Amino acid sequence: MDNFIFRNPTKIYFGKGMENSTGEAVGEFSHNILLHYGGGSIKKTGLYERITASLKSAGVTWTELPGVMPNPRLSLVQEGIRICREKNIDFILAVGGGSVIDSAKAIAAGVPYEGDVWDFCENKAVPEEAIGLGAVLTIPAAGSESSNRAVITKEEGQLKRAFGSDLLYPDFSILNPELAMTLPPYQRACGIADMMAHLLERYFTNSSPVELTDRMIEAVLKTVIHNGPSVMMDGDTYDAWAEIMWSGAIAHNGSLNTGRLGDWATHQIEHELSGIYDVAHGAGLSALFPHWMRYVINQDLKRFVQIAVRVWNVDQNFKSDEETAYAGIEALEQFWRSLGLPTTLSELGIPGDRLEEMAGKCAGETEKPQGQFVKLYKKDVQAILEMAL
Ligand code: NZQ
Ligand code: ZN
Repeated sequence: MDNFIFRNPTKIYFGKGMENSTGEAVGEFSHNILLHYGGGSIKKTGLYERITASLKSAGVTWTELPGVMPNPRLSLVQEGIRICREKNIDFILAVGGGSVIDSAKAIAAGVPYEGDVWDFCENKAVPEEAIGLGAVLTIPAAGSESSNRAVITKEEGQLKRAFGSDLLYPDFSILNPELAMTLPPYQRACGIADMMAHLLERYFTNSSPVELTDRMIEAVLKTVIHNGPSVMMDGDTYDAWAEIMWSGAIAHNGSLNTGRLGDWATHQIEHELSGIYDVAHGAGLSALFPHWMRYVINQDLKRFVQIAVRVWNVDQNFKSDEETAYAGIEALEQFWRSLGLPTTLSELGIPGDRLEEMAGKCAGETEKPQGQFVKLYKKDVQAILEMAL
């Protein structure tokens, strides 16, 4: 197990009706806030009314900034920074999914920073201060509700880039699984793929031995595999949604990578897909992950056998290690397909004419490799994209 320091300060309010505590939760931090949300789902579902009623009853006043798009844009972040400065706003309430929360995080870090907030994404600066931030989560997926990262897309150059800082952990996040029940099926599936990808990125590590976190990751994967199909259906699915929503947060709150170094190359490659083609992050991941796995399988065949047996219940009898490992990858692909997710780029409508460009944006020829489990250079990324086509 590697040395580690772990602290996740986000206070979680979990369960039915918890969004009615939003005003009270915000009031601990500020009474003059930015209310940040997406393209309107919160108005259609009635959540907006409940949140604003709760803010009013706690004496919180707000300025609204709606319009966050999936794969949140830098221009709206800059608009948010301007509004917060102009109105002396010192707290942001994000109501939505990873895109809204990430946009809010970038605004929070950008308000006190004199330069361009994009500097953080290019490693030209690190946030030294940030204003406060809370979230009401409406889609279990990205794990941004208790992560220290934000992913933003710069329209110019079609660049999707992440930055991290412990200042980005939300002060609180409200997780009511009922709020996810209005999601369209495709978004439900994309969320499941994303949280599974967060678990897999952590699972494939060269840190050894890491038995406890291996088994913890396996447990969360099994929980998601067990409950995922239930939340694709309508009806009384609260219990399954509760498992999925908490799994999504646990998958990405840092606890499962304690003592181990995760890989993250597939996420970096996916950012190139989303940057250019604006695909849903989870769908980009389901189209890439199995191919990445096949490309790196010989780095640690035993680890691939372990996940195949322990998570996918692959029967090892009469099978070589290699056959067992490949059967595990096929089981993953089959599961994602059963949820209606793509497992190739073509299914996402991505043609083969910009693969080299994406590979070059993602990794260098001889420097700036991606990934920790296996270091990938441009030619490797291109090979994975070609396999995924
Ligand atoms: O904009 P609205 O109208 O709200 O609609 C959203 C959006 O179209 C809709 N939606 C959300 N909750 C709903 C709902 N529709 C009906 N009912 C509800 N309850 O769902 C669509 C997708 O929302 P989005 O926020 O984009 O989804 P997700 O949570 O998957 O976030 C994806 C973003 O998070 C980033 C991704 O790269 C992507 O940009 N990630 C952030 C991470 C982090 N900060 O730690 C880690 C992840 O790896 C990921 O990269
Ligand atoms: Zn992700």
